[in-house]
Amino acid sequence: MEWITLILTVSVVIISFHLLFGKSHPNAPPCIRGWIPWFGAAFEFGKAPLHFIQQARAKYGPVFTVVAAGKRMTFVTLNEDFRVFFTSKDVDFEQAVQEPVHNTASISKDNFFESHPTCSAIIKGRLTPGNTAMLSPHLCEEFNDHLESLGSEGSGQLNELIKSVMYPSVMSNLLGRCNSPSSALSRQEFLEKFTTYDEGFEYGSQLPEMFLKEWSNSKHWLLSLLRKMVIKSEETLYSESDRKTLLQHLAASISEQYLPNYGLLLLWASLANAIPVTFWAVAFILSNPTAYKIVMDQINSVLGRQDKQKTKVTLDDLQQMPYVKWCIMEAIRLRAPGAITRKVVRPLKLQNYVIPPGDMLMLSPYWAHRNPKYFPDPEDFKPERWETADLEKNVLLEGFVAFGGGKNQCPGRWYAIMELHMFVALILYKFEFAQLDPMPKPSPLHLVGTQQPDGPCTVRYKHR
Ligand code: HEM
Repeated sequence: MEWITLILTVSVVIISFHLLFGKSHPNAPPCIRGWIPWFGAAFEFGKAPLHFIQQARAKYGPVFTVVAAGKRMTFVTLNEDFRVFFTSKDVDFEQAVQEPVHNTASISKDNFFESHPTCSAIIKGRLTPGNTAMLSPHLCEEFNDHLESLGSEGSGQLNELIKSVMYPSVMSNLLGRCNSPSSALSRQEFLEKFTTYDEGFEYGSQLPEMFLKEWSNSKHWLLSLLRKMVIKSEETLYSESDRKTLLQHLAASISEQYLPNYGLLLLWASLANAIPVTFWAVAFILSNPTAYKIVMDQINSVLGRQDKQKTKVTLDDLQQMPYVKWCIMEAIRLRAPGAITRKVVRPLKLQNYVIPPGDMLMLSPYWAHRNPKYFPDPEDFKPERWETADLEKNVLLEGFVAFGGGKNQCPGRWYAIMELHMFVALILYKFEFAQLDPMPKPSPLHLVGTQQPDGPCTVRYKHR
């Protein structure tokens, strides 16, 4: 009996020691496993993932692994290693996102691996800088219409006001005019469902739907909306004489069964990152008197004599407002996505480590943009730093990775920069704002996508 107790005790000690300190992979990076097997550091990590990454980097060095809820995430924090992240054949984008795609858009594994390359190529091809330019006149009309529906004066949360204009405008611009919610009521319903879907996206991508009832309802509401959109797109394929929408382009190659699902993902990708950054761009400009003055001087000198209700902003106009663009780029830099990911598919050599297959490889653009070697005074909003980038030739600053990189780099980046530039010029040309709350901090809660504000930002506005 005593022998059995002894053997059991020794086994428990060995297993515990192994779980706590052991390296299950030779030459693997330092590993943060927490105390509870499988669950690992999930609790600490989940409380504030962005802060966790920074503290772990300070303690464990530039490459480290976090075990959380049965997953191994290996973070790569040195710019010198980013090229490997973006270009190595030993890591894979599709393998990394397949499960989240299945959970958030109900796309089967087989269909995703079969259709994603085509889908990605179509979106890339439709959103080149040249094609983006062709989308800009219609986007400008949509922004004008929806900005006018804010009324001549009012107050509210700045991010809600921005959402109410950008959601329907971008949706109509990318997926078709016939698909823009037409009445105020249907706009409101769409706004509510999409907000719930977007806010729960990170949890929805990891957990089974049954644990997220409200989120799941919104997801299925949006999928049925997309189904109706697909039908409308087919009906208007030959009647919308001016151009085919992205949805119609996708319809040529994606099976009918899954077209609404890819449409939902595209809709999410086009709104989820751009809207918070638009909020930050406007908030940074409003709370920085020097930047505001330069921005308004440029806007007034280019748009100054135009009708405020139907203001036409062309790409030439935008080109004459470079400082406004610098403000946009600086807002994207400061509020860049918390993390992007690849899956390690073969042992990956990085520095003196070998990262085992199966690990999720993680890169945080948010922290990469706080490296003073590339961005001196990294926490400061300094639009002038973008003067050295050749933005007219679409060359961004070294060390800037908000849109990811390699063959899966964000295909919507030129559209995003154009839409933000146009939106900020229009809203500030039409309205004067008073900020009633101090500038909120970014929320440390999210790893996926650009940062949300961690508090209210109430504004009063009136027509200028
Ligand atoms: C400031 C706004 C935006 C930011 C910061 C952003 C950032 C990103 C990032 C980091 C990725 C992953 C890249 C990687 O893993 O290397 C991505 C993917 C993607 N983005 Fe964006 N994005 C923005 C706006 C947009 C817009 C406006 C669209 C569409 C018009 C869009 C469409 C997509 C799509 C479709 C993908 C997935 C690509 C694939 O599956 O290969 N994004 N974006």
